[in-house]
Amino acid sequence: MTKTRSPIRSNVGLKAVMAVTGILLVLFLVVHMLGNLKIFTGETSFDHYAHWLRDIGTPLLPHTWYLWIQRTVLTVAVVAHIVAATVLARRARAARPVKYAHRKKVRGSYAARTMRWGGVIILLFVIYHILDLTTGHLNPQGDASNPYGNVVADFAPERWYVTLFYTLAIVTVGFHLRHGAYSAFRSLGQQTPRGERRARAGALVLAVALCAGYLVVPFAVLTGLVS
Ligand code: HEM
Repeated sequence: MTKTRSPIRSNVGLKAVMAVTGILLVLFLVVHMLGNLKIFTGETSFDHYAHWLRDIGTPLLPHTWYLWIQRTVLTVAVVAHIVAATVLARRARAARPVKYAHRKKVRGSYAARTMRWGGVIILLFVIYHILDLTTGHLNPQGDASNPYGNVVADFAPERWYVTLFYTLAIVTVGFHLRHGAYSAFRSLGQQTPRGERRARAGALVLAVALCAGYLVVPFAVLTGLVS
């Protein structure tokens, strides 16, 4: 009896998993970036926003439940994104009949070639970032009741290397996102040179806007604009 592969395990199914989980993660990134920008509205307003995050859904849901549902969905999305990417990459490698004697110059953009390592760096950054600004273990202040103070303490001028590290991680997110969004826009749009150009431009605009929105916060603290 021949085993049939469930549709989700087909290449098309796995690409759909990549796309759906990628969209969820981008949505989180956009909302998180907009939330971070509230730092420019002052300490009381930013801290209030952070406390409100824990109250979303109340009284229908108990305190922090929404946050935990979101965390669960994001974790499942990250795991599914990684698993689908790994299976697709393995299949692509297995489909190559003979290994190249000399590795040919790989075609495609810099972003396309660095998707795997970009993903690993982003994952490591997110783990560090949660220990820094969510649990506070790696933060010089680490006061859960004062997220504004935690951000200001984190990116203080004498801790310029933290801003440097965040900058590298966020630029990596930008490259990863540009390639992911380009692939998605290309699949959804017209398969013509014009459609291709549009997909490329749209992905670039999204990636640059997101990078700028994230980077403005540490640099505002570093330069004393936010203190
Ligand atoms: C300079 C840029 C960033 C700043 C200032 C920042 C700030 C913060 C702060 C203050 C929190 C804690 C929120 C709270 O517990 O109330 C947080 C949580 C988080 N951030 Fe960021 N963030 C930045 C970039 C990023 C990036 C690029 C990612 C993803 C690639 C990310 C992913 C997360 C995640 C997953 C959490 C945990 C959310 C939760 O508690 O469920 N952040 N961030």
